[in-house]
Amino acid sequence: MKILAFGASNSSTSINRQLATFAAGQIAGADITILDLNDFEMPIYSIDREKLNGIPQLAHDFKNHVKEADRIIISFAEHNGGYSVAFKNVMDWMSRIEGDTWEGKSFFLMSTSPGARGGATVLGQATGRFGYMGGQVMASFSLPNFFESFDPKKGVIDANLKETFDKELSKFISA
Ligand SMILES: Cc1cc2nc3c(=O)[nH]c(=O)nc-3n(C[C@H](O)[C@H](O)[C@H](O)COP(=O)(O)O)c2cc1C
Repeated sequence: MKILAFGASNSSTSINRQLATFAAGQIAGADITILDLNDFEMPIYSIDREKLNGIPQLAHDFKNHVKEADRIIISFAEHNGGYSVAFKNVMDWMSRIEGDTWEGKSFFLMSTSPGARGGATVLGQATGRFGYMGGQVMASFSLPNFFESFDPKKGVIDANLKETFDKELSKFISA
């Protein structure tokens, strides 16, 4: 199973990349590709730029990663209650390429933040929206209080949260 995973953040120390990478690593025998959104930095989307120069090659490259994956794991950084600009820009450019943005792929959508809500607001946006953009949301999970709930070596360390995470991961794998 080819798994594509990334944190929807451009932070070099992204806690969401850590969570997405951890989740992918829990899937036995998976062929895992982890993306860094910094490798897909493009001009801010504008209709004028698109008319003038077309869609950047990096948007096509990102879309090809989506096409090649069997399943996709994203963990969203929450910025002012919404997507990070870095993710939104990649998604906006990609959505201008013909066809469904998310290519009918199955998703495990997550979020985490240092705070008590764990990015639940942005996760709600994504779970409510991906189905309208050609994605199938199979499972979702929000991890609150990242620095207390997650250990870089052990992963999710809070027992209750780990139980929920495992249940959601199973739904994703068996979907
Ligand atoms: C511009 C900005 C806005 C933020 N807004 C929120 C927010 O609305 N909710 C939240 O829980 N955390 C918010 N945070 C804190 C992020 O959750 C925190 O920076 C987290 O590390 C982001 O994930 P990342 O490390 O994967 O980039 C914000 C951070 C920044 C820089």
